[in-house]
Amino acid sequence: MPKYRIALMPGDGIGKDVMEAAKIVLDKINLDAEYLEAEIGWDLWCKEGNPLPQRTIDLLKSTNCCLFGAITSKPKEEAERELSPELQGKGLEYSSPIVKLRQEFNLRTNLRPCKAYKGNPLNYKEGIDLVVFRENTEGLYVGMEYHPVPKKVWDVLNETLPKKTKRFKDTPLNEMAISIRLMTKKGCENIVKDAFEFARQKKRKSVTLVEKPNVLRETGGLMTRVARSVAKDYPEIPFYEANIDAICMWLLKNPFDYDILVCENMFGDIISDLCAQLVGGLGFASSGNIGDDYAIFEPTHGSAPKYAGKFKVNPMAMLLATKLMLEWLGEEDIANNLERAIAEVIEEGKVRTYDMGGSSSTIDMARAVAERI
Ligand code: NAI
Ligand code: MG
Repeated sequence: MPKYRIALMPGDGIGKDVMEAAKIVLDKINLDAEYLEAEIGWDLWCKEGNPLPQRTIDLLKSTNCCLFGAITSKPKEEAERELSPELQGKGLEYSSPIVKLRQEFNLRTNLRPCKAYKGNPLNYKEGIDLVVFRENTEGLYVGMEYHPVPKKVWDVLNETLPKKTKRFKDTPLNEMAISIRLMTKKGCENIVKDAFEFARQKKRKSVTLVEKPNVLRETGGLMTRVARSVAKDYPEIPFYEANIDAICMWLLKNPFDYDILVCENMFGDIISDLCAQLVGGLGFASSGNIGDDYAIFEPTHGSAPKYAGKFKVNPMAMLLATKLMLEWLGEEDIANNLERAIAEVIEEGKVRTYDMGGSSSTIDMARAVAERI
């Protein structure tokens, strides 16, 4: 029996293109693994009314981890309209399969390395090497929202925060909306520990907490207290704190002052897009959604419908996600070998997709990497 069972889940649009690129590289590295194709995405929603069927969840549960491409999501009305005729009017509601996967497998940590590979014409500056740890399941994206605001909820707010609600006493409940930022001590502890463990293991320079505790006094305060306390267990690693707004300036001004960044869900979402752009944009941004015993690795870009099936887009984000997967499996040597091959292709600059100013295809790029493995 092979050592690993790995699910390959291409999804929609260019998710399929970049998965073909990943397969070329996986063939070459010759990992002792069995690969199983898993279905997800918009086509399934249209045909079956469910973008993430139970058979996919069951298949993933039988594997060690999953490599994922990207999916298409559309707003409510369009989703309903594109359902196959026999499924329309049955009250089916589209919900994000990615959020569902994160919850189903408790993929609480989102890991996003942002490294400027030498010679990439899209680098903001050479030598940038940041890693974002983003809490993946709570915070402002916990999914608890109200519109209109139920009277019961407003009554509780009136009773417990009378000074704050007074200003809104003439606003009708259907003219306000509330999103809850829910953070748990455990959630904060987990993400900060993951960041510090990574920093220790990889001998990184520092860990910076990105928050806004001067304004978000309770949630930001909890995260800050927890982070300071966790930091004490890692005395050899310098710990810094920065506000989310200020760090957006500082990261542009001097990205070399930072190393590991750790954040709540939404702040991590914002910061990781900023960091991705510093090192070449969506074609280079990979991520891992990591839980205690399962993980899903993916490029952070979406399905880019206008390029679907054209094999034009940059597969590096997907190949870097593959590298993250190999590291997570404990195959450090193979992961390092793959990263070296990726770095060489970028530095040599002969094979470049359109975003890098070249005209090579997704497959050309994958083959160039595979040849160097
Ligand atoms: P997108 O990431 O799919 O594409 C935006 C633009 O970025 C593209 O038009 C292209 O110019 C560029 N781009 C993206 N990936 C690239 C690559 N590998 N190489 C070179 N250029 C690349 O974002 P968009 O257009 O906002 O969303 C399209 C669909 O993808 C939507 O349905 C959205 O919901 C979905 N989406 C899915 C995600 C996922 O599966 N994790 C994440 C983000 C969006
Ligand atoms: Mg995002």
